[in-house]
Amino acid sequence: MTDVKDPILPGQGGTDYERYLRTDELLALQSPPGRMAHRDELLFQTIHQASELWMKLACFEITTAISHVQADHLRPAIRLLRRAVAGLDQVHNATLMLEHLAPWDYHSVRSQLGHGSGFDSPGFRQIHDLSPQLASAFMTLVDRRGASLHDIYRFSDQHADLFDLAERLMDWDERLLLWRTLHLKLVERVIGSAVIGTQGTPVEVLGRRLDIRYFQPLWDIRNALTAEAGTSPA
Ligand code: HEM
Repeated sequence: MTDVKDPILPGQGGTDYERYLRTDELLALQSPPGRMAHRDELLFQTIHQASELWMKLACFEITTAISHVQADHLRPAIRLLRRAVAGLDQVHNATLMLEHLAPWDYHSVRSQLGHGSGFDSPGFRQIHDLSPQLASAFMTLVDRRGASLHDIYRFSDQHADLFDLAERLMDWDERLLLWRTLHLKLVERVIGSAVIGTQGTPVEVLGRRLDIRYFQPLWDIRNALTAEAGTSPA
């Protein structure tokens, strides 16, 4: 008779928990204390590695959500978009945690980064690739339904599923805008605003990239509605 505490899964580790989650490998992915230039490297690596995992999950959900939108299956698409947005919230919170890093201590961590830069983040690159695909799948759906953004927003009760989907796209875009703003403030707080990054990018360039919007027509429709409502200032 086997004990339920005995592992039955293949792999490394003394328990099935460790084997399934591959905790030995996972916990070996951060520099050990003896190889750290500064003890806050663990904070820095944990935040970046965890963020890459959350973005991997978010992009996985977005990829499936795009297929659902293409197939006109809006309820599952909306469900996965909510989850992807919640994933970005985790990245946001993780980024906030870097405010625990003191400016001078960061320079010891930075000495270990080589030419490493957030521009090469696989998660952010995938977000950059997938977001326009999501926008295009949505606009094709709107055309296929014979609707318009104006109709969807002006008569949202009659287009409830499209409206719900559109608002989830807005959530995604807004979270990315908010993260860019938070990141810039973090960068200014840690290294300053008039310096250059590990790949030679001046921090002020990050400021010019703040307003990247993947779903511009969904932002524009607000202007049209306000004008139509007659509440724009003269
Ligand atoms: C001490 C904290 C941080 C500093 C000082 C910092 C600094 C910088 C700098 C200077 C750049 C411009 C590119 C370069 O020359 O490297 C950059 C870009 C970037 N960083 Fe960070 N960063 C920090 C934390 C983070 C975190 C926590 C993340 C992700 C969770 C992140 C993701 C990115 C991304 C995605 C870009 C490209 C931004 C864009 O496409 O506009 N960074 N960072």
